[in-house]
Amino acid sequence: MTTNTEPKFLALRPLLPTADELYPYLKKIDENRYYANFGPLVEEVHDRCAQWLNLEERKHVMTASSGMAILELLIQAYDIPLGTTAIMPSWTYIATPHAALNKGLVPYFVDVDPVSWALTPEIAEKAMRDAPGDVSLIMPVAPFGLPLPVQEWEDFSRRHNVRVIIDGAAMCLDDVVPSETVPTMVSFHATKMLNAAEGGLLIIKDQDITLRVKKMSHFGTNKKGIFWNATNAKMSEYHAAVLLASMDAWPKSKSDFIRVAKGYHAGFTGASNIKLRPGYGEDRFNSVCMIEHKGMDLEKLLDLGVETRHWWRHACHNEPLFSTIARGDLPVTDHLAEFTVGLPVHKDFTADDVAEICEKVLLCEA
Ligand SMILES: Cc1ncc(COP(=O)(O)O)c(C=O)c1O
Repeated sequence: MTTNTEPKFLALRPLLPTADELYPYLKKIDENRYYANFGPLVEEVHDRCAQWLNLEERKHVMTASSGMAILELLIQAYDIPLGTTAIMPSWTYIATPHAALNKGLVPYFVDVDPVSWALTPEIAEKAMRDAPGDVSLIMPVAPFGLPLPVQEWEDFSRRHNVRVIIDGAAMCLDDVVPSETVPTMVSFHATKMLNAAEGGLLIIKDQDITLRVKKMSHFGTNKKGIFWNATNAKMSEYHAAVLLASMDAWPKSKSDFIRVAKGYHAGFTGASNIKLRPGYGEDRFNSVCMIEHKGMDLEKLLDLGVETRHWWRHACHNEPLFSTIARGDLPVTDHLAEFTVGLPVHKDFTADDVAEICEKVLLCEA
């Protein structure tokens, strides 16, 4: 029986910088009297992200108000022709097809690799032949932060003369490989590992593109006149303040995520019906913990106080809005939509909390 009381372990309880941690940055905003439009704090974010990514050129990163905004801005910045096809996995968050549709593209949903859960160049190779329209864009998604083979995607892009945009929303900046031709988007949403509350980052070693994205996120402003359709999708100074404080706290956040990941790894060692993401709890961690199972009573698990989350719902092709979108065969996606779920991750979990969740999960296996 499900009770009305809040479960002991919510699927997620984000913990962003506290008021005390934000204070020095808020003071800076007071002093600067700069609140929006690429002020000093946003520029500091650019500097620190470029440094983090070992980029010599700070103009190789660009912030925006959200990760999804970056995807839309990129599609526009690359001038991807309206009405052409964007190949993407159905196994992604709804933001990926929303971004393509909002920018006048036609998504084509394809399956993913059963181990990485990612769209691979091999799958895309076949999809290039099967897709109903002219393919202009591939949008591989880094599943729950697992890095993608950037060089293979660069080769693919060159070979097929198509754009590739990596949706790396859940990636850790440590894992991002900056490329000259294949941009990566990372999200700073409250559910992610680094947080602005809302915000996103573009990484591409091509300043023409970062500049275009910058201008398109700022009404297309240009001294010589307005030449492009544009939007307002800039990161504010307040969001930059949260992000800078979140970066300051990264060593602690990282060790918290590692402790939780190691706890799950230990708790499921020997559990043959539960699979963690590749490397999770060994050399990998994330703000979510996805498991693949063989059938689980999630209602019972909730009754035991453990809330779960289908972070990518039940795959995009099963959403009413996207149900008419053309697709290839999706057996792996259908399997993942049914047999994966996100377990709770809180930065302030103790090892005992995670052990308790693991015990309860194991009680609820089919
Ligand atoms: C795969 C994927 N793409 C895009 C997004 C959108 O990012 P944002 O929330 O920053 O707009 C998300 C958000 O969770 C995501 O998981």
